[in-house]
Amino acid sequence: MWPEDRPVPRERLLAEACACDGLIVLLSDRVDEAVLGAGRGRLRVVANYAVGHENVDVEAARRLGIAVCNTPDVLTEATADLAFALMLAAARRIPESERLVRAGRWAGGFSPALLLGVPIAGRVLGVVGAGRIGRAVLARGRGFGMDLRYASRRPLAPEDAAAAGARFRPLDDLLAESDFVSLHVPLTPATRHLVSRERLARMKPTAVLVNTSRGPVVDEEALAEALAAGRLHAAGLDVFEREPAVHPRLLALENAVLTPHIGSATHAARAEMARLCCEGVDAVLAGRRPANLVGD
Ligand code: GLV
Ligand code: GLV
Repeated sequence: MWPEDRPVPRERLLAEACACDGLIVLLSDRVDEAVLGAGRGRLRVVANYAVGHENVDVEAARRLGIAVCNTPDVLTEATADLAFALMLAAARRIPESERLVRAGRWAGGFSPALLLGVPIAGRVLGVVGAGRIGRAVLARGRGFGMDLRYASRRPLAPEDAAAAGARFRPLDDLLAESDFVSLHVPLTPATRHLVSRERLARMKPTAVLVNTSRGPVVDEEALAEALAAGRLHAAGLDVFEREPAVHPRLLALENAVLTPHIGSATHAARAEMARLCCEGVDAVLAGRRPANLVGD
């Protein structure tokens, strides 16, 4: 057990992995072939306390006969809530407004041009990645009267698209058409800097970009430049390229809403994630098939 509130040092993880039958790890732990092989055949299961699992070398685990589990479903609604909260906060400049009030800089009372934002109803919400979380964000957009579109590797089955009430669009078109873009793809070689400098340039200057997926999906430097130059209304970011470091230019921008990777941070979701991790380890060590096995 690692009791501290910062990542386990690499040496310690390698040393401990030798003596374990099962490991429960965080997304900040890099579980590569060296860690997986440290126990020379002893380790049988790795449970990742996250739905995303780019930190675990799933292919090496498969070769070594080690099961990998994650925590899908139980964090879907919490993460979709945070994505929507960031969207509203960025659109209506809530953190910036808060800073103004707390700093005693609200001098004039109600004022017609104070802190004007962008509207939500009737605007285009473009969701990138139509998995569980992406679809939960679309469901929220429907409640807010938005025009729903999505991009994904392949279109949803007609019944799922009808249920989501969203139209499939190629990514480049989606970015050009959307007033709000929310990212819900896993981090893979294909999605690294998916939102590149070129793609950011396709977006409307009044648009809001929200990222609750993984930091490296967005070119952070290019995003900071676009926000600073007014080529994008605002961004809501819960994830960053080099967590816990945040790009210094983003820190200085009023139109960047920044949260510390708290997408699944509700008591209920975190308790369920912990339960799923324990169940996964328990199942594998008891010779049963875990419900939340990655990669099949
Ligand atoms: C959190 O980022 C997760 O992938 O669960
Ligand atoms: C604003 O407070 C209004 O009443 O329109």
